[in-house]
Amino acid sequence: MIETVGVVGAGTMGIGIAQIAAQNEHQVIVYDHSEAQLEKAKSGLEKVLNRLVEKERITDSEREKIRNRMVFTPKMSELWPCGLVIEAIVESIEIKHQVFQSLEDIVSEHCILATNTSSLSIASIGASLKIADRIIGIHFFNPAPLMPLVEIIPSIQTAEQTTTVCKNLISHWGKTVVLCKDTPGFIVNRVARPFYGEALRIYEEGIADFTTIDWALTEIGGFRMGPFTLMDYIGNDVNFAVTESVFKAFFYDPRFKPSFTQKRYAEAGYFGRKSGRGYYNYDDIKLNPKPLTDKALGEKILNRILSLLINEAVDAVFMGVATVKDVDLAMTKGVNYPKGLLKWGDEIGLDKILKQLQELFDYYGEDRYRPNPLLRQMVQENKQFYEN
Ligand SMILES: NC(=O)c1ccc[n+]([C@@H]2O[C@H](COP(=O)([O-])OP(=O)(O)OC[C@H]3O[C@@H](n4cnc5c(N)ncnc54)[C@H](O)[C@@H]3O)[C@@H](O)[C@H]2O)c1
Repeated sequence: MIETVGVVGAGTMGIGIAQIAAQNEHQVIVYDHSEAQLEKAKSGLEKVLNRLVEKERITDSEREKIRNRMVFTPKMSELWPCGLVIEAIVESIEIKHQVFQSLEDIVSEHCILATNTSSLSIASIGASLKIADRIIGIHFFNPAPLMPLVEIIPSIQTAEQTTTVCKNLISHWGKTVVLCKDTPGFIVNRVARPFYGEALRIYEEGIADFTTIDWALTEIGGFRMGPFTLMDYIGNDVNFAVTESVFKAFFYDPRFKPSFTQKRYAEAGYFGRKSGRGYYNYDDIKLNPKPLTDKALGEKILNRILSLLINEAVDAVFMGVATVKDVDLAMTKGVNYPKGLLKWGDEIGLDKILKQLQELFDYYGEDRYRPNPLLRQMVQENKQFYEN
């Protein structure tokens, strides 16, 4: 039984994770090396809790209990009573190594040490520990209290017991837990790449403009946001950095090649919503063009992006990154896709997906369109991912 949860880093993710743990009746110790950041996190949390009371999601007395369960400290040594510490500091392997080494001198030998990293390998973080079988990735999505998905990533060092305890605990916190191999991008940030990359490619080829591509994905595909609206929402700087890091981590596999268009938008400071200008203009929305609502073109765009997404989901299963069920859960709960991609593939027909990929591959002769061997095999054997 884990009573006390420690959170290292009181930034965007850390404070959200701390809130979830406190709402789930843990004593929570939030440590950050910056006192100013601790103050900011505390007042930010206060606002969140007040809003929850206003919306009648929690009562006054629950708010009081949550507050009383939380301690904010600039001293790492105060983390000593923790049974689990989740690290959410800056995304730097050197700094994470230092922090985990110091942490290990403070906590008991039974304390599980988790990282919320989005892009670093869990094995490399674990390498800084004396007892490495307690390392694990617990990857929350932003905003952590609202997003239902958590990817749990045991590394090659992780003890089975560590994984089991974390899986049970995070499920108990009401989250949808998926298990994932310690591979670049885990599930969501790997499988989702073509949603952005292929949309950018279609634009670069002059097949359609941003708004028509977004229209195809939302109106015909049922996605909540089109790729360009979503990239503007995430920030082109952030989204480009993730794409670049996944591309490098996959030893420059052309499937993950970043786009010059996005690089230029990021370089120009056209980050999206937060800078008032991205693919769209947010300062003056009247300037944004209307989509060309041509159904045949829309379907062509959707099918192309969708077949690449499905191919990526199949690859995650083929490479043992996650199960069919977890890949589908990750994309519906982590990025709100209207359907699990493998289920969607079954519904469209895996043979049709294969045919579409094969056509793209034949036309472009590029590896990014190569159909996954598992997809070929399933079509050959007339199989589906789900029983009807
Ligand atoms: N922001 C996201 O959308 C998101 C989503 C999932 C995972 N992540 C991952 O979570 C981690 C944190 O991201 P974030 O967006 O919350 O960052 P952030 O910049 O908002 O917060 C980081 C916090 O860590 C503190 N910090 C930095 N170095 C420290 C150290 N040596 N010791 C103690 N505290 C230190 C900083 O003062 C800051 O408060 C990263 O690994 C990131 O990749 C981020």
